[in-house]
Amino acid sequence: MVVKGTLIHTPVFGEVESIENALVVVDGDGKISSVRVPGSENYANDVAAAKANNHLIELTDRQYLLPGLVDLHIHAPQWPHLGIALHLPLYDWLQQYTFPLEAKYENLAFARRNYESLVNNLLANGTTTAMYYGTVHLEATKLLAEICLDKGQRAVIGKVAMDNTEECPEFYRDKSVTSGLDDTRALIEYIRNLPGNDSGRVSPAVTPRFIPGCTDEMLHGLGAIANEYDCHVQTHCSESDWEHDYVIRRHGVHDTQSLDRFGLLNRKTVLAHSNFIDEADMSTIRKKGSGIAHCPLSNVYFSNAVFPSRRALDYGLNVGLGTDISGGPNPSILHNCRAAVYSSRLLEEGVDSTIPANRRGTPNSRINCLESFWMATVGGANALGLKVGQLAKGFYFDAIVVDTDVTDTNLRAGEESKSGEEMLQKIIYGAERQNITNVWVQGRMVKSTR
Ligand code: GUN
Ligand code: FE
Repeated sequence: MVVKGTLIHTPVFGEVESIENALVVVDGDGKISSVRVPGSENYANDVAAAKANNHLIELTDRQYLLPGLVDLHIHAPQWPHLGIALHLPLYDWLQQYTFPLEAKYENLAFARRNYESLVNNLLANGTTTAMYYGTVHLEATKLLAEICLDKGQRAVIGKVAMDNTEECPEFYRDKSVTSGLDDTRALIEYIRNLPGNDSGRVSPAVTPRFIPGCTDEMLHGLGAIANEYDCHVQTHCSESDWEHDYVIRRHGVHDTQSLDRFGLLNRKTVLAHSNFIDEADMSTIRKKGSGIAHCPLSNVYFSNAVFPSRRALDYGLNVGLGTDISGGPNPSILHNCRAAVYSSRLLEEGVDSTIPANRRGTPNSRINCLESFWMATVGGANALGLKVGQLAKGFYFDAIVVDTDVTDTNLRAGEESKSGEEMLQKIIYGAERQNITNVWVQGRMVKSTR
């Protein structure tokens, strides 16, 4: 397959690369074998050959080819609660709404209905890679992996481990440390051996829900499994005042240090939120090469603070973006891109007009659109160690077409020509799922409305 059109992406942090009439050549394994610019050697030959073989997809001059979006933190089972119960603080929200909902996934028919709907909707929004929390149930989480494989999404998936009887209700927790660890191992082996998953497009993650939900024995056992299987790890880290303070009370240190002691911080670990990390935590995270999933919309409701994205990025941490459904009420990573910019601006300026301007905010906190889009693509890919997030030779062809000619949307290219950077700004602020007309994962078309 060969796609010809205007390509926009951000392979280098803070910079945009835009190529008009780029020729993206995709091989039989779904990898990009070359990106040619007009006038370069082989350009004309490749166009002619692709045309002759009926392999050429030509975009219009109002369509833009972008990398697929990476959702680095999402709770698959919470999809039915999108947009509700956001008035509660984290602890009450978990106990009153979230645990009762997740418990229903013991029913596999219920799980199938909701997981299929979720994956369809994420693909429609251009999310080509998702790092999912399932539920505590092994069978329903296996089903989520099968659905992602079948529908063509790239995914990292974990069975949630939560066995602490003091924090998790009897109706929704691992029955014992042993059963939680056995089910975690079983999911890893199941996903790695799934028929049709030879390329590892779907992969497993060790998933302690968060420190409060797990006993020390469970955390210790999960750290050993992560090491034994060289596996992804995902968990929540220093999310809210309550959660952060709970860990200080129980373990005497911040989440980061505690997770490290249990062997849960490695190059493949993704820490959701991390709103309260300090300099020492950042140093540990950088040393271990772990990633952070910044969830700006969810943070509005549950975190009690704004994630210091500028500081973390300048420190050299791998930061990507997450929807944190249904802590976050929107499945679109583009919406979270916008929110990441907004929240950084609010952090920088401050929010209380009764405080004098020179003391109101936290200077040098803002990030811009390009940096936000980098997190939504390259940052997420780096955190997962995946060859996606940019449209360059050697990377998988995980890509979306954003079309500015779709009627009844807010995205208009306008008459006068725009730079790649300006076009990307318009897309980040204006594009909705209706503008995403085509989506590919590993060269396979998973959405097409044109
Ligand atoms: N901490 C533990 N579980 C959850 C969850 O489901 N969502 C969020 N936002 N935080 C959590
Ligand atoms: Fe979460």
